[in-house]
Amino acid sequence: MTPFLQIIHLSDFHFATQDEKFRIGQLRRALQRSRIKKSIQDFILHGLAGHDEFALRRLKRFFDRELSDSPWDALPTWIVNTGDHSTWGSPNAIASAHKLQSELAERPNVQVLDLFGNHDAWPGTFPLCASRHAIRLHRKMLRDQYFPGRHPSNILSASLPETSGKVVISSLNSVIHEKWRNFRAIGEVKEDFYQGEAPRAGTQLRQLEEVVSGWRNELKLLFVAAHHPVHDPEPSAFPIMKLRNAKEVADCVGTATGDAALTIFLAGHTHKLFPAIGQFPMSAECVNQEPLLSNQIQLINGTTMQENRLATNDIPNWPHILTVLRLYQNPNSPHSLSVVRQLAGRHLAQGRYTWLQSFGVNSRLQETLAVPTDKQR
Ligand SMILES: [Fe+2]
Repeated sequence: MTPFLQIIHLSDFHFATQDEKFRIGQLRRALQRSRIKKSIQDFILHGLAGHDEFALRRLKRFFDRELSDSPWDALPTWIVNTGDHSTWGSPNAIASAHKLQSELAERPNVQVLDLFGNHDAWPGTFPLCASRHAIRLHRKMLRDQYFPGRHPSNILSASLPETSGKVVISSLNSVIHEKWRNFRAIGEVKEDFYQGEAPRAGTQLRQLEEVVSGWRNELKLLFVAAHHPVHDPEPSAFPIMKLRNAKEVADCVGTATGDAALTIFLAGHTHKLFPAIGQFPMSAECVNQEPLLSNQIQLINGTTMQENRLATNDIPNWPHILTVLRLYQNPNSPHSLSVVRQLAGRHLAQGRYTWLQSFGVNSRLQETLAVPTDKQR
């Protein structure tokens, strides 16, 4: 197996300033005095928690210790962050997240694909409590200062060894800067423009189709990063958290790639790893993830470092997690490649980041997806 590309997927840092953390403490005490159901209290407090200070330092150490080993130090690495750098969208919190991310990327051959999430669009307060003007000003600040990249045009690509094939990653902006929808964490992929800038012609999805068609027969595997998952593994009965036009996104990306290339959607937002440990598919044919098509797969990273003080039964044993995808080409069959998922995290959100181990075996967990690359468009 010939290694050629490493993707490190981070998400949902949820940085918060000391002042913002103090306000959450006040809210927690107020909720405890209220008659609001405990499950709803937990949902609110989990969504509003800030980052874990201890995780911050330990994540840096893990990168230095474990993610620069040979041969990966000499191969391309893409760091993909699917957003929610902050809980309240405050500039200081986003700046702290960016400082950490640039320190993590300080190594050879690293490129970063950086998205913002629905929380980053909060103008320092609950969206419902903010004026439309404040939301517009915040959007302009967010894009001008921290996320100037255009979607879907900030594209990275890597070549498969000894073939003309390409692996490509693109992004979609799914965040809505609108008080009611963002209050409910709803997303939608539509025009990507912001205050002070004239919208480009066409929607993001049409633009993505144009970009993908430009790769013609070279494209073998497409990654599409967005904050909101296209396939929602645990859809709520209530109109919250969803991507409004998930089917449209799946269909448009499917039209762009045709049958020839597999698409892997990378997302955050839910704070739950998906597929769960041990359920990573061996091939695209093994899964049915509505509304995704037969050559599309959804992967979701949980939160990499959000504070976890709510020891409820819902929280998985590895609440702090990062996904490492290592891509290999089979030298005996240049028409296939493997995507190997390895996971690292902090067990019970404590201690240092370590590689997750295979159950019952003293070796690193490695789950492999086979990607055929010999299909023609
Ligand atoms: Fe989040």
